Amino acid sequence: MSKPDVLICGTIVHAHKELDTILGSISNVLQLDSPDRETFLKELGPGGKYSKIKAIYRHNDSASKIGLFDGQLISSLPETLSFICHNGAGYDQIDVEAAKQRGIKVSHTPSAVDDATADTAMFLVLSTLRQYYRAEVNARQGKWKSGLSPAHDPEGKVLGIVGMGGIGGALAKRAKAFDMKILYHNRNPSPKADESFTYVGTLEELLERSDVVSLNLPLNSSTQGSFGEAQFERMKTGSILINTARGGVVDQEALVRALEGGKLSSAGLDVYPDEPNIDARLIAMDQCVLLPHMGTETIETQKKMEVQVFGSIKVALETGTPSYLVKEHK
Ligand SMILES: *[C@@H]1O[C@H](CO)[C@@H](O)[C@H](O)[C@H]1NC(C)=O
Ligand SMILES: *[C@@H]1O[C@H](CO)[C@@H](O)[C@H](O)[C@H]1NC(C)=O
Repeated sequence: MSKPDVLICGTIVHAHKELDTILGSISNVLQLDSPDRETFLKELGPGGKYSKIKAIYRHNDSASKIGLFDGQLISSLPETLSFICHNGAGYDQIDVEAAKQRGIKVSHTPSAVDDATADTAMFLVLSTLRQYYRAEVNARQGKWKSGLSPAHDPEGKVLGIVGMGGIGGALAKRAKAFDMKILYHNRNPSPKADESFTYVGTLEELLERSDVVSLNLPLNSSTQGSFGEAQFERMKTGSILINTARGGVVDQEALVRALEGGKLSSAGLDVYPDEPNIDARLIAMDQCVLLPHMGTETIETQKKMEVQVFGSIKVALETGTPSYLVKEHK
């Protein structure tokens, strides 16, 4: 029996050896080299070099050439294609419904990103509370403490975590070490949560009680733009919003108004609705801390993610279902 074709849509940066040891003997690994989407769609068709692929490794860096895995791309995939294994926790770049209709199973990398993303969120919590960005600018401009005011301690402050999944849980663990009080909101209490963390049944209650609110939920059709005017209204005056999830979850106009009006004293952002563009009004606010989507930008984590995807593909080829299926399949 011939080995199945696996197409790597994206660039393997760290785990070359693992690619070979995990998938090399059980599949033919093909590297995407189509220069653009149109060529790619043609090469997926009858007689094309990708016409027999069984599984796809997808990284978002393929988007600059072949675009998102939307309905059109998914409807062009060959009959043989059964699995799309995505490198990333968030999979809003893939139309999972379209994949499901074709009987294609989609997986992602939930746990591999937890620590690195939570580190980024914790940095943003500390940096916004302590106003370290302004301080660093001063230091580099030779102004020492001129114009700086004392800021705030994390100790004793209430951190409200919206979405207590792997990242939310890893953030809570870190914040606990800084003696923050942890509130979290989820559909249900998390069985894994530390007993010192307080579950609140409504988002409204979490917003009213928190000094810092961290968004740790996926972007999907129900969360898109879900954090807006009404949510900011509920927050304490002078509180802080942290977003390491997806920019699209937040209504950005409402965020800017909340900052301009003083409802929020600061925001710590790693994600934006229109990446790589950042709203100029946010850039001008030096009380905010802005990062260019650095959540998982570490060698160790990116390698872990690559290896996790290879593992999912191997399990898929052996059993018919990848590990780490997205929750829409469950
Ligand atoms: C994925 O790539 C697209 C197109 O380049 C870009 O618009 C989007 O922000 C990227 N998403 C993530 C999560 O990196
Ligand atoms: C979107 O994500 C939220 C948070 O995980 C979840 O509760 C909701 O069911 C999801 N909605 C859709 C349409 O997938």
